[in-house]
Amino acid sequence: MTIRNLDDLLAEGVSGRRVLVRADLNVPLDKQTGAITDDGRIRAVLPTLTALTGAGAKVVVFSHLGRPKGAPDPQFSLRPVAARLGELLGAQVRFAEDTVGESARSTVEALADGEVALLENLRFNKGETSKDETERGAFADQLAALGEAYVDDAFGAVHRKHASVFDVPARLPHVAGRLVLREVEVLAKLTGEPERPYVVVLGGSKVSDKLAVIEALLPKVDRLLIGGGMCFTFLKAQGHEVGTSLLEEEMVETCRNLLERADGKILLPVDVVAADAFAPDAAHDTVRADAIPSHRLGLDIGPETVAGFAAALADAKTIFWNGPMGVFEMAAFANGTRGVAEAITKADAFSVVGGGDSAAAVRALGLDESSFGHISTGGGASLEYLEGKTLPGIAALED
Ligand code: 3PG
Ligand code: MG
Repeated sequence: MTIRNLDDLLAEGVSGRRVLVRADLNVPLDKQTGAITDDGRIRAVLPTLTALTGAGAKVVVFSHLGRPKGAPDPQFSLRPVAARLGELLGAQVRFAEDTVGESARSTVEALADGEVALLENLRFNKGETSKDETERGAFADQLAALGEAYVDDAFGAVHRKHASVFDVPARLPHVAGRLVLREVEVLAKLTGEPERPYVVVLGGSKVSDKLAVIEALLPKVDRLLIGGGMCFTFLKAQGHEVGTSLLEEEMVETCRNLLERADGKILLPVDVVAADAFAPDAAHDTVRADAIPSHRLGLDIGPETVAGFAAALADAKTIFWNGPMGVFEMAAFANGTRGVAEAITKADAFSVVGGGDSAAAVRALGLDESSFGHISTGGGASLEYLEGKTLPGIAALED
């Protein structure tokens, strides 16, 4: 199996050709103002876009944003993303008000060599996410008709069997973009022979979301550190009461079983920051993990846990981190995530940050992005890769 990449396409010559680029411009937006709160995913696709415009291609970018239900929904419009993309490229980005309709056709038609257009949200069309192959295929036909070659640079969406990810590449010459290539190279290092000790840090709210990756990683890692909302289901499995903390009761037995099989590789919090309410100004204290008051909920890992996790990371040679350690969006509950992130940057290790939330946390906390080995643009996608699943968007690029 081989996957051709952008250099192969550039070598064929793209000047004057219409090249479709599937990007993942699904950026977080401020709920009140609609402003883009983290443009990391837009910046991540720039190398592919500038390589194509520099070679004289007519570049047609498409993406999803949020989860609209197959019909136009203004709150999920990509228009603000087009504006930001134009600023970052230092060039005008033509915006089409639909994806495969009249506006898209005329926008693409008007492109000069070296120009970029962005089409409106793919998910405004039912065919994009349809489980019905015929419906998806019909939409893919319309998308494919807009271009002459296809570049997949949407790493964050490669785990989705959607028209723009899976069916369009079947209809056009296709290559992996710079970002997809880099992401896959990095993750392949982790699934291959990672340098040891290999330490994984997992957080986020649900055990059920992470169960498959924990199962897949347990035999491979030297240590697995668990924080975030999901740690409370593990603490409960250890026999502790967790107050009103996030708890997946139906996963307790599974966690108990994992802990038994983990051979001491799983490290859990020994102290947590417990609060009266899920609010930035809630009264809170650091308590032992086995003494969470019944009326309180844990919103962060405590300082002793941070120190223990930092010690477990200090000699690591390979690190993968997915999921915040606490509610980092609230200053009172951000210390766990910050402390663990800083410990990761201090280790003399190849470190990979996976996931929308952890990547956003790195930037929101003002940490230096360059002190990590790689910051992935894919949350679900990087986890599914590490689980060893076949990713539809990668499979579609193989020849
Ligand atoms: C993401 O943010 O995880 C990707 O853009 C994929 O989005 P989705 O989970 O809505 O498919
Ligand atoms: Mg997701």
